[in-house]
Amino acid sequence: MTDFPFYVDRLGEQDIPAIMEIERQVFTLPWTPGIYRYELRYNQAAFYRGIRTSEPHLPPLAAYGGIWLYPPEAHISTIAVHPEFRGMHLGGWLLAILLVEANRRGAREATLEVRVSNVAAQKLYRSFGFQVVGKRYRYYSDNREDALIMTLKPLDTDLLERRLFREEHTVRERWRSRTPSLA
Ligand SMILES: CC(C)(COP(=O)(O)OP(=O)(O)OC[C@H]1O[C@@H](n2cnc3c(N)ncnc32)[C@H](O)[C@@H]1OP(=O)(O)O)[C@@H](O)C(=O)NCCC(=O)NCCS
Repeated sequence: MTDFPFYVDRLGEQDIPAIMEIERQVFTLPWTPGIYRYELRYNQAAFYRGIRTSEPHLPPLAAYGGIWLYPPEAHISTIAVHPEFRGMHLGGWLLAILLVEANRRGAREATLEVRVSNVAAQKLYRSFGFQVVGKRYRYYSDNREDALIMTLKPLDTDLLERRLFREEHTVRERWRSRTPSLA
């Protein structure tokens, strides 16, 4: 048993089954394997990162997310955490990973859409400094729910690097407190 089973990695087409396993559980309008095949193989403007686990008894993929990078803009295309690992700051860690990398590759601002009812995700985004800048009316076809457009501008390199460090630290702490034998 390792002390800390999570590590960050690039994602590829071979990860589509593990992605879909989470995608179908957490989104009411899941992307299809075909969309992920395009995103992971052909979309030159996109990059995807995952948080994998190193323990065979854990789900292989704990979280995944991606960015469409059109410098100076980075658009968060998706982000999701496996239900088994919610509330451990894996979402925060992954968001910091994505934003730091986008910033290194020329992004100076980040945008995303989020359901008006998705208070958990909005809280996460606000904690990074994202602000609501607009609305897309009836954006989601399943229930015709509106999307909030949220933007973080400018991307502050130092702040993001520090946030990345802190988020990983928090994940380590929360994992330790979840695993009594390691406490
Ligand atoms: C949104 C999501 C990615 C957050 O991931 P997570 O790892 O559970 O969240 P974190 O542990 O990193 O939370 C960071 C902060 O966000 C806020 N937050 C996260 N989940 C929350 C919840 N259920 N209720 C209230 N606040 C929440 C909190 O402020 C939290 O910090 P704290 O625990 O120190 O108070 C995850 O809930 C998810 O996968 N949801 C389904 C997919 C989705 O909605 N994706 C976003 C689409 S726009």
